[in-house]
Formats: sequence, C-alpha cells, structure tokens
Amino acid sequence: MARRPWMNRALSPGRRAELLLKAMTLDEKIALLHGVQPMPVKGYVGYVPGNARLGIPALRLADGRAGVGNGAHNATLLPAPLAVASSWNPNLLHAYGQVLGQEEWAKGTNVFLGPTVDVVRVPEWGRSFETYGEDPYLNGRMAAAEIRGVQSAGPIADANMYLTMQQETNRFQANSVVDERTLEEIYLPPFRAAVQAAHVGTLMCAYVKTNGIYSCQNRQLLHTMLRRQLGFHGWVMSDWGATHSTAPSARAGLDQEMPGSRYYGAALKRAVQNGAVTQAELDAQVRRILRIMFRQGLFDRKPRGSWTAKADSPADASFARRAAEAGMVLLKNKGGALPLPRQGAIAVIGEDAGGKTVAEGGGSSYVVPPYVISPLAGIRKRAGASRKVIYDDGANLAAAAHSARAARVAIVFAGAPESEGADRPNLQLPGNQDALIAAVAAANPNTIVVLNTGGPVLMPWLSRARAVLEAWYPGQESGNAIAAVLFGDADPGGKLTLTFPAAAKAVPTAGRQQWPGINGNSVYSEKLETGYRWYEAQHQHPLFPFGFGLSYTTFKLSHFRLHQLPGQGQVEARVEVTNTGMRAGSEVVQAYCRQPAANGEPGPQLCGFAEVQLRPGQARALRLPIEQRGFMVYDTARHAWRMPRGRYEVAVGTSSENLPMHAAVEIP
Ligand code: BGC
Repeated sequence: MARRPWMNRALSPGRRAELLLKAMTLDEKIALLHGVQPMPVKGYVGYVPGNARLGIPALRLADGRAGVGNGAHNATLLPAPLAVASSWNPNLLHAYGQVLGQEEWAKGTNVFLGPTVDVVRVPEWGRSFETYGEDPYLNGRMAAAEIRGVQSAGPIADANMYLTMQQETNRFQANSVVDERTLEEIYLPPFRAAVQAAHVGTLMCAYVKTNGIYSCQNRQLLHTMLRRQLGFHGWVMSDWGATHSTAPSARAGLDQEMPGSRYYGAALKRAVQNGAVTQAELDAQVRRILRIMFRQGLFDRKPRGSWTAKADSPADASFARRAAEAGMVLLKNKGGALPLPRQGAIAVIGEDAGGKTVAEGGGSSYVVPPYVISPLAGIRKRAGASRKVIYDDGANLAAAAHSARAARVAIVFAGAPESEGADRPNLQLPGNQDALIAAVAAANPNTIVVLNTGGPVLMPWLSRARAVLEAWYPGQESGNAIAAVLFGDADPGGKLTLTFPAAAKAVPTAGRQQWPGINGNSVYSEKLETGYRWYEAQHQHPLFPFGFGLSYTTFKLSHFRLHQLPGQGQVEARVEVTNTGMRAGSEVVQAYCRQPAANGEPGPQLCGFAEVQLRPGQARALRLPIEQRGFMVYDTARHAWRMPRGRYEVAVGTSSENLPMHAAVEIP
C-alpha cells in the first residue's frame, strides 16, 4: 500500500486517480488512451492492456445491446432494446441491464458497449431496434434505468452514440445539419439522463459529423454540451474508427481512441512533446478514465470472468421470455380475435414462423443465440399434441391460401430484418410478405398477423387482418413468448414507442434532403417536430400513434387532477386507473405537456408516464411526476434553459392521440 497509495479504498475515486496519475510515465499515460490491435486476448471487441508495475487492470470492452456480442457463446439472446422499451416499464429496463451486465461480467467484460440511447428520427434507420424509440424523455428514462442495471452488475456502461447518429446510410461521412435548439431539446436529453440520472461511466462519440465537424473532435458537443452543460465526469471513447485526428480530437474532448492507436499512440505522444496537446490536457484525459475505473471498483475486485465462461442460465432465459411478452404491442384485435379460440386447427404461415424467424437485429449487437424457439415451435408446444397445427412457409401464395382455408384461424408471420451498416430501403415488409398476408386474409377471414420488425412497417392489408401483434425482435425465447401472448397466458403489455405511419411519404423525414441527405448533408429541417410531434403539427393521422397498444382487458382513467408541489414547475399528475375487464393486464398512463404558443414548441409532448398492472376490477391511484422540462424551452440567445411564464396544459390518456383529460398549470 505504501508503494501504491492509490490502492487505499478509503480514499475517494478522484483522490486515488490523482495519486496514480502522479506515478505514471508519459508512455504509461498514452497506453491508457487507446486500444491495441490485434488484441492479445480471445473475444471482446476492444482491449486496453493493464499495467503490472502500477496494478492497473486491463479494460476488456464488448458489445451487447441484447446480450453479449462479438461472437461469444453461451450468452442469452434477450429481446431487442426497442422491444423491452415498449413495455414503458423502467423497472424492466433496470432488470434487463442487470442481466446484460451480469452476463458480460461473467465473460470478463468490464466495459459494456451499450446502451444505444439515440432518438429515432428516421423510421427506416437500421439501428432503431437497438434503441428505445422516438421520444427524448422516454429514451432518457429507459437509458437511465438500463445503465443503472448494467453498472450495478459490474461493468462500466457506455452510452452511445453521441450525437446525431440517426441513420446508417453513409454513416462514416454523413453530416447532420441541425440547429442548436433541436440538438438540446430532442437529441441531447437521453444522454443527459444517462449522465445525470445514471452516472454513466463512458460515452461513445459517433461516426457522423454534426454541423460539419466529426463527433469525436467536436468541441461544441464534447466540451461545451457534455462536460460544461451536463457535468459529465466520465470518459469519451470513439466509435470504432471514428477518430480522425490527434490534437484537434484531444483538445475537443475525446479521451480514448478505439479500437487502435492510429491517432492516440505515437502521434499523441509527439503532440504532447511538441506542445500541440498540453500536459494538463493529457492528464485530464487519463484522470477521467482512472476515476471511473476506481469508482466502478475495477482496481479492487479481481476479474473472475472469462470469455469462454458459461454466462447464460435458466433464470436469464425466463427473464428473456417475460421481457419479450411485456414488450409486445397488440395493434388490432377486431371482435376479440385474440386470445386464440380454444379449439380448431391453426394454420401457421410464413418463413418468419419457421427456421428463418427474425429474432434479433444484426451488426455489432448481434448475439450468437444458444437456441431460438421459432414461433412455429412455440405454438406447437402450447397447442399440445391433440390440436392440429398446419405449417406453410408461404413461398407459394396459392398453397398458403389453401392451408389457411383448411384451418379455423390463420396466423401469418412476417419479418423485416434490420442491421447496423444499412438503413431499410423503405417501410415495406420485404419480399412477398404483403402479398402473402393479403392472400391468406382473402382465404380465411380469421387471419392474424404477427410482425417481427425493428421499427414501423406499412400495412396495406390492415383492413383485412382481424388482429395484428407487433412482437419486435423477441430474442431466443421468441416462439414461447409469442405463443403465450397469442393464447392469452400473458397480456400484450406493450405500447408503441415510435409512430407507425400510414403511407411511405407520410413521415417527418420524407424529403431526400432530410434522409438520406444530399451531398452528404442530412438536414434536420423538421426541427423539433420529430416523431409524433410532426404528425400532430401536420394534422396527419398515422396508422398507429406513439403510445398506442391494446390489451386483452379494458381500463378506465378517472379522477385526474394536477397537484402543485413546492418549487417552480414542480407538478404531479394524479389519476386513478381501473381494470374494467375480465383479465389481468397492464396499462400505461401517459402525460403530455402543451406549452403556451409563444414558446414556439410543438404540440403535446410526453412529460410523464407510469405503467401499472392490475387484476380484474382492481383500481389504483397513480402519481405521475411531471418532467420539469415540459415547462421549459432552450433559449439559444442565452444558451440555457428557461421557464417562460404562462399557461401550460397537461393532458393525460393512453396514447399521443388519445388524451381525454386536461388540466392547466400557471407559471407565474
Ligand atoms: C458500432 C458500435 C460498436 C463498435 C464495436 C461500431 O461499428 O457502431 O456500436 O460498439 O462497432 O463493435
């Protein structure tokens, strides 16, 4: 201890970092600021060697938005983050983070490259399944919950991707042209929550440029907004290959280059020696990393995990199943088509039901699944040996129609794969799936559609389907979770966290200038009108609105009032929810704030929500804290938030389009 005073656990992380920093040579400091390639260890996707002289542990970084990535075996494939977020239940996200964190820790990972917290701006975005949805406040709540879960399990979490990462097309070059107010009000809030509510240890700067400057050398983003404004004390690492310079990056606020040392190895050493980067700047980078490593206990706990360890377990598999059920969104259920009738043959149609089910998204978050229960297998198991289940892969429409006719109900499964690296070309279901659904629905009036998508799709066949269930990417327990919901063992508890548009062009980013951009520029000309805000402003009814989702039971909201708490803009909504149906189920009560016209804000914006589970007949009085930002605007003249005086309305209901109850608050 005398030789290594920083190993004294009684000292604060900041003090320990300071003591260690003093003992480090220039080379030792530089070594902490970049990954090494090729990696000297098996597994992971990034590696920073430890330092035996000083007792600094190695950093082992791994992907894992829905389970341990990077080719690991024996790890659970959980449902996609978008699926879990559709539960609108932060406690579930916290548990999700714990499972992810524990499995990563078991694999020896001490820096977990997730969660992805970016707001979905473009419905075709190829990574929408990796994040939570289109609302900044919702994403912030989910991000904070998941990060707390991850960090409580051992690893340091890494909020990504900072900032304006809203498309895959041309992602290494794309330039997001976005005004300051939109950045602050729409795209920054999930990161604010990650920093301020969850104390995330690291942040990943993105590939894209914001207003002409690469994210990883953008001083406005890294220094002014992240450090000065949000008070972030952790470290910033670059996305893989997103570092583009040495001194400009270091001076802008990038601490660590990943995965190699092109700019932050010998080049950084030279920059310090010739004064292009000062010693103080370099020390600040090192200090930020060390402080988080101390805070997270990496110096004090021997790493026990290993890449070949078995990380999955029956408990995690049952969590995967429960989480998948909780996020499924019942979009249509005409005449109570679901739950399925107790008798009669079932036709299961579509290759998405069989061996080719879309259970997860692709790219760096891809998980090698220990197994995937296909929807067909899940339905067969749940239906039992005595009930007839006919399978047809849907390749031949006439044959599929024939199978559908032979059954009491036909369930068509349709999937839309998505992956990092490319956006979906459009919002249609790929291949012949629209035609297949139409053909089956024409053959059997009792047709149910189950979707495995990572974002919205168009539904030209909607009027002919009796029921539609959005199951997202459900993970390894896919078929079991889908069967549980179809047969009514579980209530489809989810609500949309992104809008499903009615037509290809009826989206906020329909202009080519907006997405995928012209001459490399993606112009955020819709400004604050992202997602449901745009539909309201345009008086457009989407196919299914943000916040929407049916249940097998019914609910009633009553006794709504606003309760003012001490403090300007501190308000709580009080409302009673009653389960008026015959089954247990969950409802999500949503509050939307509408600001005075003079504030120049879009219409009602989500500013509070709570998910409740109720037995038949049960009632509960809820208190929803209303987000103070619901009464604030970002003032670009002062570069600060303020709360203009006036009359603010808070509307409460069960989707962005169903807000039957209102009350007002006067801000003096
Ligand atoms: C992705 C990151 C990921 C990294 C390492 C990049 O291409 O954008 O999300 O963490 O690769 O796999």
